[in-house]
Amino acid sequence: MDFTSDNICGVSTEILAALSLANEAETAAPYGADAMSMTLDQEFSDLFQRDCTVFPVVSGTAANALALSACVQPWQAILTHEKAHIEIMECGAPEFITGGAKLIGVAGQNGKLDVAALEKAVRHSGQGCIHRSQIACISLTQTTDSGTVYSVEELAEITNFAKKNKLLVHMDGARFANAVVALGVDTHELVKGIDVLSFGATKNGAMNAEAIVFFNKKLADNFVFQAKRTGHVVSKARFLAAQLQSYLANDLWLQNARRANGAAAELAEKLSCLNGFTIQTPVESNLVFAHVPAALAFWLQDQGVGFYSEESELLGCRKIRFVCGFSTASEKIDKLSALIETYEPVVKAA
Ligand SMILES: Cc1ncc(COP(=O)(O)O)c(C=O)c1O
Repeated sequence: MDFTSDNICGVSTEILAALSLANEAETAAPYGADAMSMTLDQEFSDLFQRDCTVFPVVSGTAANALALSACVQPWQAILTHEKAHIEIMECGAPEFITGGAKLIGVAGQNGKLDVAALEKAVRHSGQGCIHRSQIACISLTQTTDSGTVYSVEELAEITNFAKKNKLLVHMDGARFANAVVALGVDTHELVKGIDVLSFGATKNGAMNAEAIVFFNKKLADNFVFQAKRTGHVVSKARFLAAQLQSYLANDLWLQNARRANGAAAELAEKLSCLNGFTIQTPVESNLVFAHVPAALAFWLQDQGVGFYSEESELLGCRKIRFVCGFSTASEKIDKLSALIETYEPVVKAA
């Protein structure tokens, strides 16, 4: 029973069918000059009700690092949450691809940036000081790395702050679909004031297909050369375009995210009824964080249950993360809770 990530899920059958269909054309122009790639800008512009320029890439890390490299100079800095994927899980890719721009991690509850903390960070950053990296961009994650979701109002506060301080805004949307579904608002509401979005699809049913979506189209000028020199202009681009189109068609992306979020809600409900589990952050998407006694966490891992775990601030506990995907079945959740019910803590003799 594996709950380590949404990346463990396979590919949606609709997307596999779209790949197969794309393969029927005997030949197609390479490097994004094919008919399918050429319509992506229009399709995403329709989706977001904003004119945009789209570059498909094959990983979320590439999307983030490249998007950020279009936002900042090497001597500038990016404010982000201290637990953001770009800050702790991308092996320095943003710093590398931007040519050395500095990431500044900011604390915030439940994985979210808040304006008071951003204001403080800017105030103490030495803007204008020759010795200091100059903050030029905010990167926020929607759905956050803690599984929470920024409301439209929270996003507006951050984007207004950015505008007031002449900062660009990047959104890491590796789980963007989960946020759209969680909030139940129109997609375009979530990208107001956003300059560039890393639009995720892989975690939610695609086969290594993501898109960098530039709403601030000036940032896309000459971007293709940066993408090329970092190895991200793929030759058979039609297979990325085919996936993204199929992902959006008939709201597949929203259906998949609805299933993943629903599974996480079901899992959280089951876990919260079990002895020892304390849900740690509000379960708003497809991620479930809980504190559990360390012995139980290790026992579960010994039983072959897959999940991430780290030290918890609660004495004797581990903080664990379960992730549900579009193909997480109820039976798997039932099986997990049945297994947990069989756990018998070892009581030490006095
Ligand atoms: C929030 C977030 N952003 C970006 C990524 C990076 O995606 P990839 O592993 O495809 O590089 C991940 C992957 O786990 C993620 O969780």
